[in-house]
Amino acid sequence: MSGREPADRFTMGLLRACADAVVIGAGTLRASPRHHWTPQHVHPSAASDFAELRRRRGRAADPELVVVTARGALPADHPALQAGALVITTDTVAAHLRSSLPANCTILAAGQGPALSMREVLDAVHNRGHRVLLTEGGPYLVGQFIAGGLLDELFLTTAPVLAGRTDATRPGLIAGQEFLPGLRHPASLASVRRHASYLFLRYQFHRSITDASDILP
Ligand SMILES: NC(=O)c1ccc[n+]([C@@H]2O[C@H](COP(=O)([O-])OP(=O)(O)OC[C@H]3O[C@@H](n4cnc5c(N)ncnc54)[C@H](OP(=O)(O)O)[C@@H]3O)[C@@H](O)[C@H]2O)c1
Repeated sequence: MSGREPADRFTMGLLRACADAVVIGAGTLRASPRHHWTPQHVHPSAASDFAELRRRRGRAADPELVVVTARGALPADHPALQAGALVITTDTVAAHLRSSLPANCTILAAGQGPALSMREVLDAVHNRGHRVLLTEGGPYLVGQFIAGGLLDELFLTTAPVLAGRTDATRPGLIAGQEFLPGLRHPASLASVRRHASYLFLRYQFHRSITDASDILP
């Protein structure tokens, strides 16, 4: 959407540089066959600054990539898997992935399935010692994090680009969940930054509101 706007890429890189791990769904991995979820990949010219930030904060050289999958249909030749990743899946699929993914990937089983609980996914990531987690989606994963009250903050870039839509093949920010009218996930705007015609918005989430008397008109 941002057309590789450098300020947007820098923001993505900075968020990755602050994270212990980047959590994505398998759909996002499959949709980006050459991507690395590292700070320097998304904004190479700031690579040395990102590395210095991580060093000063006592973090590993790169955040660990965490891929969530139920079916286990992952492209083993994906460069991000070749580089080593943590894959969280169901008890039954884990054994298959241990034999089909690169040896430097770690496969964790986090439930019987068919779908995993996002709380159990996060517990598995926390048990690995990771504390600051960044999710870059996609829409199905983000929807489940919000539905479970598991998302603390949302960093949203508003680009001066109108996309339109003729069908549902390009999902929005959230897919697979319908919150309104019954359930609101209120958020506060914590900061706004502007670069040219781009807005960089940071929201903080509060508890979900299910009581009708709490719902604003
Ligand atoms: N604009 C952006 O910033 C942005 C960011 C990210 C993604 N995207 C776009 O979003 C699209 C992909 O959408 P998506 O919603 O399919 O991506 P997604 O949320 O990353 O992936 C969905 C997949 O994640 C796994 N998954 C989700 N919930 C699960 C659960 N509870 N338990 C176990 N596995 C679970 C499943 O993988 P399996 O099918 O392997 O079981 C599911 O098919 C792509 O077009 C991508 O480019 C855009």
